Amino acid sequence: MSQELKAEVGKAALDYVRDGMKLGIGTGSTADAFIRELGAAVAGGLKVIGVPTSIRTAELCKNLNIPLTTLEETPHLDLTIDGADEIDPQLNLIKGGGGALLREKIVASASDDMLVIADDSKLVDTLGAFDLPVEVNLFGVAATISAIEKAAASCDVNGTLNVRKGTDNERYITDGGHLIIDASFGRIADPIALATALVAVPGVVEHGLFTGLASRAIVAGSDGIRIVTAK
Ligand code: A5P
Repeated sequence: MSQELKAEVGKAALDYVRDGMKLGIGTGSTADAFIRELGAAVAGGLKVIGVPTSIRTAELCKNLNIPLTTLEETPHLDLTIDGADEIDPQLNLIKGGGGALLREKIVASASDDMLVIADDSKLVDTLGAFDLPVEVNLFGVAATISAIEKAAASCDVNGTLNVRKGTDNERYITDGGHLIIDASFGRIADPIALATALVAVPGVVEHGLFTGLASRAIVAGSDGIRIVTAK
């Protein structure tokens, strides 16, 4: 998505932000565009406070003087605005392409509502073409990978699992100090069943299936911006 479209989506998301709101602030290039719009609105007098979903997002917010809080101080948020890697018609999502899925899910779950911002290339009929990120504890990774394979197979989902590498070709470490396993499942017919199976695996910290969290998405395409709600 072009920077212009991202800025448009970011601006459109600002319409959902009210004075005094406690916000969950997402991670990724689309979320960054929203954060820049939010920073300009805060400079213009908008009063909000936000919980960032990553160290990277916290730094951008600090640079833009967006007031930040934590879930310890502010355990209940009004709205989370965040990007996604895939969005299905029920607004189930795959997230975590940027590695922030654990904090993103904690923050979205602590919010009354979640608004997704994306371009229309993220809309899919069925989740799974994008590799599903699964955050795992460093201990016993090979055993956890094999348990994830077994759990997925019990939902008729199969694919290759790879430990994510960082830019330095070393294993990518999340803000929470864990690894990410990228699972190329191809097609996830029942995301809720797979989500339930994955959380039951010891060693799995969290996975990138976000089900039942988002109520609407602002989606940018060549025809402009539209609002998508769950079917
Ligand atoms: C971060 O961990 C992800 O969940 C992002 O929200 C997702 O990858 C979307 O990122 P972009 O807006 O950069 O496509």
